[in-house]
Amino acid sequence: MLKDPIERNRKGIWAWPRRKWLLGIPLGGFIALGVGAGAMLGTGAAIEATGTDSFCGTACHSHQEFIDPEWKESVHYSNPAGVRAGCADCHIPSDYPDKLMVKAKAGIRDGYKEFIVGSISTRERYEGRRAELAEKVWAEMRANDSKACRTCHHVESFADQTPRAERRHSRMAENDMTCIDCHEGVAHLSPADAARKYGGVADAR
Ligand code: HEC
Ligand code: HEC
Ligand code: HEC
Repeated sequence: MLKDPIERNRKGIWAWPRRKWLLGIPLGGFIALGVGAGAMLGTGAAIEATGTDSFCGTACHSHQEFIDPEWKESVHYSNPAGVRAGCADCHIPSDYPDKLMVKAKAGIRDGYKEFIVGSISTRERYEGRRAELAEKVWAEMRANDSKACRTCHHVESFADQTPRAERRHSRMAENDMTCIDCHEGVAHLSPADAARKYGGVADAR
């Protein structure tokens, strides 16, 4: 016969179960906890591992062949200040929830295109799609007011700007403009320059 239900509840879930198989319940809980923690650490490690310049720049054939060299020639790779902006500095938000979403989406999308569709696997294909891809990046940067640029550049504290730059920067907000509206192609050839150099599409619109 079972005991009075009230008395059973008082003992609570921590009481030593009277039947051996009931041990499986707390045990299952601990295993689930372990698996969960493992998954979180794994994701963190994957984010770190896939967030490095060498991974972004070279893991995929198209990045290695077309994207890496342009970045290496840009001011963001090498400059008098000795500060390097890597792929992730511009393309992956630094705050965690955003970062995870962007990585998940970009990873799936890029992997799919690179390995399955092969849509940018040759120079010709890449130049055919560059403007469209660039447009996506610009749209993201317009939407977040070029947040990534602003983690390094603080236009309010520029020293020795030319009068022209000073005018533009100080009126940016009132003109409803953001960095990327004036500064494209700061780590890659702009689509327009690339079209001149390689042929291809200069403007996706
Ligand atoms: C990780 C930091 C970092 C990030 C992120 C970054 N920059 Fe820079 N940027 C630099 C440094 C360092 C220089 C070189 C400054 C120097 O030499 O005085 C530079 C130089 C520049 C210049 C001057 C170019 C030239 O030819 O002299 C422009 C314009 C610029 N960045 C725009 C941007 C824009 C737009 C973004 C966002 C898409 C961005 N930067 C993101 C660090 C960064
Ligand atoms: C309305 C256009 C405009 C916008 C918007 C704009 N800039 Fe500029 N920026 C300029 C001009 C023009 C110059 C001067 C370029 C030159 O003289 O070659 C300049 C120069 C710079 C330089 C080089 C400064 C130096 O000392 O050489 C950096 C870095 C820069 N801008 C970053 C930014 C960042 C970051 C943003 C967004 C927060 C931004 N700019 C928004 C027009 C703009
Ligand atoms: C200083 C910021 C910055 C850095 C560093 C940077 N990018 Fe970009 N990236 C941009 C911007 C801005 C665009 C939009 C097109 C443009 O203006 O050049 C872009 C565009 C792209 C595109 C779309 C196709 C194209 O060529 O326009 C890809 C792919 C890309 N970046 C990958 C990378 C990889 C991989 C790295 C590292 C090797 C990297 N980016 C480094 C700012 C950056």
